[in-house]
Amino acid sequence: MTETVLEARDLTKTFTTTDPPVQVLRGVDLSVRRGEFLAVMGASGSGKSTLLHTVSGMARPTGGTVRLEGRELTGLDDAEISRLRLTRMGFVFQEAHFLRTLSIRDNVLLPALRATPDRRGEAICRVDALLERFGIAQVAGHGVTQVSGGQLQRASICRALAAGPSIVFADEPTGALNSAMTTEVMDALTEAHHRGAALVMVTHDPVCASRADRVTYLRDGLVVDERVLGAWSQAGSSSREAALLAWLGSLDF
Ligand SMILES: Nc1ncnc2c1ncn2[C@@H]1O[C@H](COP(=O)(O)OP(=O)(O)OP(=O)(O)O)[C@@H](O)[C@H]1O
Ligand SMILES: [Mg+2]
Repeated sequence: MTETVLEARDLTKTFTTTDPPVQVLRGVDLSVRRGEFLAVMGASGSGKSTLLHTVSGMARPTGGTVRLEGRELTGLDDAEISRLRLTRMGFVFQEAHFLRTLSIRDNVLLPALRATPDRRGEAICRVDALLERFGIAQVAGHGVTQVSGGQLQRASICRALAAGPSIVFADEPTGALNSAMTTEVMDALTEAHHRGAALVMVTHDPVCASRADRVTYLRDGLVVDERVLGAWSQAGSSSREAALLAWLGSLDF
């Protein structure tokens, strides 16, 4: 049996800060296997980001359960969740959220040092190897404004991987990029996933989603369908894209 790394059951999220309250997630079940690449699609406002936030401990669900590597997140206090987020999860967003006063390398290094403060040398070696592997070692000393959008996003993938997480969450990681940079970043995310981390990626882009092992579709806060694509390869990419587009068409995407 394949191990499940993330499991959400009957997840609900209602925002009560608005009048009337909005029920954004209405009973979502989601499982991610160890090392699996799952894409999450759905119309704007369907609850994709909210789902990502609640399964990754960034926000508390209103109801339901979330288990990460067998640990129930809803039973943990904020400090314990922060610790899990730092050591077991990685995050990639549409914007990199890097500190402008630090170099690219120091931005990548910072959370890794916080995750394992007693193993500083190891963290530095790991980060330098990642910067090398993802082709940004030559700009590692640059400031945040001195690199391209694609380089910055590859750096945030390095940052997400630096502490050796079991799962990486990405919310529209290519949303702010042109098509050449999108390919560059998707290659890096595919590589990240091949290194063993599970990957949950929210995207509006069917070409990006077609890289995933499985695509799940959200409508009005519910998972309404999913499509298993299996392992990605460049050779089979156009037929996968076509199959995914046909499926999305059937869902009125
Ligand atoms: N903090 C909040 N308070 C109140 N309503 C919220 C809050 N965050 C999100 N919502 C509402 O929840 C719904 C889903 O939002 P969410 O950001 O999860 O959608 P999404 O699928 O990620 O959309 P997009 O594709 O545009 O990013 C939207 O109607 C949004 O207005
Ligand atoms: Mg969103």
